Amino acid sequence: MDKLLINGGPALEGEVRASGAKNAALPILAATLLADGPVTLTNVPRLCDVNTTMRLLGSMGAHLSRGEDGRISVEPRTLTSFVAPYKLVKTMRASILVLGPLVARYGQADVSLPGGCAIGARPVNLHIDGLRAMGAEISVDGGYIRARAQRLKGTRLVMELVSVTGTENLMMAATLAEGETLIENAAHEPEVVDLANFLNAMGAHITGAGTDQIRIQGVERLDGAEYRVMPDRIETGTFLVGAAMTGGHIRVNETRPDCLDAVLQKLCEAGASISTGPDWIELDMHGRRPRAVDIHTAPYPAFPTDMQAQFCALNAIAKGVGVVAETIFENRFMHVPELQRMGADIRVEGNLAICHGVAGLTAAPVMATDLRASAGLVLAGLVASGETLIDRIYHLDRGYETMEEKLLTLGARIQRIVGNGATPML
Ligand code: UD1
Repeated sequence: MDKLLINGGPALEGEVRASGAKNAALPILAATLLADGPVTLTNVPRLCDVNTTMRLLGSMGAHLSRGEDGRISVEPRTLTSFVAPYKLVKTMRASILVLGPLVARYGQADVSLPGGCAIGARPVNLHIDGLRAMGAEISVDGGYIRARAQRLKGTRLVMELVSVTGTENLMMAATLAEGETLIENAAHEPEVVDLANFLNAMGAHITGAGTDQIRIQGVERLDGAEYRVMPDRIETGTFLVGAAMTGGHIRVNETRPDCLDAVLQKLCEAGASISTGPDWIELDMHGRRPRAVDIHTAPYPAFPTDMQAQFCALNAIAKGVGVVAETIFENRFMHVPELQRMGADIRVEGNLAICHGVAGLTAAPVMATDLRASAGLVLAGLVASGETLIDRIYHLDRGYETMEEKLLTLGARIQRIVGNGATPML
């Protein structure tokens, strides 16, 4: 298993490029199953989760190939199997995203139930209820969701909770349904909009993506298309927090400042000077120590839960007290005990993490528990005195493209220690 060794201290300085967004690439790859023609995607990040999705589509009979610069070509018309097996789904919950496309296009899908995960129960009832309302017959049996349908029928779906992948699954399914589907209380996330743009590029009729009401007029078939995946706002935010924590000055290029309002606002509150252009963000901390900030996670455009661990790390070394309220997932403070091992003064009470900033952290061996928790630990390692060794960084590799190489170019002292059985990138 690979580990990361970080020698804390240097301020992050320089320029870095944002990769394509994991949370846009995964649903878009799943949506290629809907196409009646070849699809070419660009700016797809090289991540373990992307590899898993490629393996999943490949196991069903799709032909996929990777080219330069994050290009992936998919020929989905060779599909022969409609099964997402447990061995793949258990490694990546987002596999559930093939459910909607398979039922809509092929009338059948056997998708393993993802089960719980480190950050909470994460049920998929909204995905199942929505497809049932569109006419699919669904049973849950032997750990699998077994869905069958003739052509799905458009209907009005009122989502009980805002769910990102729930909205995406139902929006994908509705593209090939008969008639109109209205998704109410839809997720507003930019990745939902990116997926809608891709589906429209294939010939779907979707309006309202990015609002809480998405209207989809079903069509008979979707064509292939060429599409560029949007930049990763969470990766961008993670580098910016790293610069803020180290008193640094960085510029993130090829990103989308308009998707990061809540995060940039918190960084300003923490004392950073921020300037933005159409596709770049510059953050200058002028060598200062950040001020602690209060955070309340909520669906977009509010503060993203996927940036919560990184801000816990920032609060850990900031001036003052910051209270972090996690409202999306019930168990998303797994990074806190690890930060405590590095000297952080954080107390968890229910869904609150109360952080009293300390002047400095000290290096310790720590363990990554989930994707964003790992990012928080890397950031803590950048400021800790001594050598921080982070174990189980396969979590990090699921969602950050060459993170240590990017941090190296920004002046961090970071090194990957390759263990036995490391999975090579595709
Ligand atoms: C997506 C993101 C993930 C992010 C999360 C919240 C992807 C691939 N993943 O996950 O990075 O942290 O949004 O922004 O895009 N819920 C139900 N029933 C359901 C579905 C969800 O109760 O059927 C609950 C969940 O347990 C959670 C809340 O709704 O408490 C929001 O979850 P959801 O938006 O669905 O998260 P994901 O789409 O899994």
